Amino acid sequence: MILITGGAGFIGGNFVHHWFERRARLGLPAEQLVVFDKLTYAGNPLTIKPLLDSGAATLIQADICDREAVRQALERFKPRAILHFAAESHVDRSIHGPGEFIQTNMVGTFSLLEEARAYWNALEGDAKAAFRFLHVSTDEVYGSLSDTDPAFSETTAYAPNSPYSASKAGSDHLVRAYHHTYGFPTLTTNCSNNYGPYHFPEKLIPLMILNALDGKPLPVYGDGLNIRDWLYVRDHCEAICQVLDKGTLGEVYNVGGINEIRNIDVVTTICRKLDALRPRADGQPYESQITYVTDRPGHDRRYAIDPTKIQRDIGWSPAESFESGIDKTVRWYLDNTEWISTVRSGAYRDWIATNYADRQA
Ligand code: NAD
Ligand code: DAU
Repeated sequence: MILITGGAGFIGGNFVHHWFERRARLGLPAEQLVVFDKLTYAGNPLTIKPLLDSGAATLIQADICDREAVRQALERFKPRAILHFAAESHVDRSIHGPGEFIQTNMVGTFSLLEEARAYWNALEGDAKAAFRFLHVSTDEVYGSLSDTDPAFSETTAYAPNSPYSASKAGSDHLVRAYHHTYGFPTLTTNCSNNYGPYHFPEKLIPLMILNALDGKPLPVYGDGLNIRDWLYVRDHCEAICQVLDKGTLGEVYNVGGINEIRNIDVVTTICRKLDALRPRADGQPYESQITYVTDRPGHDRRYAIDPTKIQRDIGWSPAESFESGIDKTVRWYLDNTEWISTVRSGAYRDWIATNYADRQA
């Protein structure tokens, strides 16, 4: 039994699917997952519905800040590991309102660590030795690179620039301290930008796909030359499975796609893919919808991950290229209109109005 926080979100939801598919592929028993998720605007049980319906996964709707709820879940399900995905994850939202980010990402991680440590302390023998707490974090904690800086490694100094990345950095430091001080069995992964199915359409790639199809502007921040290192979400899920199995306690592993791409090139790639798969009725290219808008305050210029450590010590490398991953992703959004309509709730429309209303074209 594994307990996974944030398992109804984008990466956590993909992880739930990946977990069962991988175990079937490798001939391993279908070990159960307990999804512990508050179901904020970003959590959608429809993402994992087949696994919930079959009983392979169980959903507990609760907040990681609620220590009593965490304690009860640990006592009831007695997991051999906790995979901690739950977070407030959107940089723009953290700029508009940092409070929730401090609460969930820092206070929530602290609450979870405290309850997990008490649970682990009470374990004995093999169960205690086998227990793992895997903390899922981000490359944004390392700050911003210039075009010529070397990629982030596990020893790059922390320099978070947004309330989101600062709150994730705080959570990383807590996890590190719990290993160092209490010997608590932690693993940390710092990953680059994920993309793929079930991605909430406030983030660049799904927002651009859906705006394009809706005939809306494609809002590129600033000059569009910011660079991200794109990783197909299933590659990230596989990295987490392998770090859980083979990672050294207390260690940090950077996970990247070896895919540094400028934002404008990401957007034009999506446009051309849609031109081929779902051409506009008027025959015009989707690129004509691109609109440059006011930049994100404090916008990090470039992220890039050096994945040497995870490749060397764990044996993981990404399987998807950006070309193959974006093809799967665009096709998924064209085919999954039911999931899309469930996430475009009133709360989603409010956010789009807040974030884009004041941005000058
Ligand atoms: P997401 O926003 O799509 O999902 C977050 C999930 O956490 C949602 O299901 C939400 O309901 C849940 N949640 C939020 N607050 C909670 C709380 N207080 N208690 C319980 N559940 C709560 O995020 P994501 O993109 O899937 O990211 C997952 C993790 O991976 C995060 O920790 C994020 O920092 C990290 N990460 C994301 C990326 C990326 O590109 N998306 C890259 C690197 C690291
Ligand atoms: O690097 C890992 C991080 O990647 C994760 O930790 C975060 O949780 C995740 O949200 C993501 O952060 P980014 O800020 O890089 O992702 P986002 O999709 O919001 O933006 C990607 C780039 O696209 C960024 O340079 C800002 C730009 N952008 C974004 C939006 C939403 C635009 O130009 N226009 C937009 O409308």
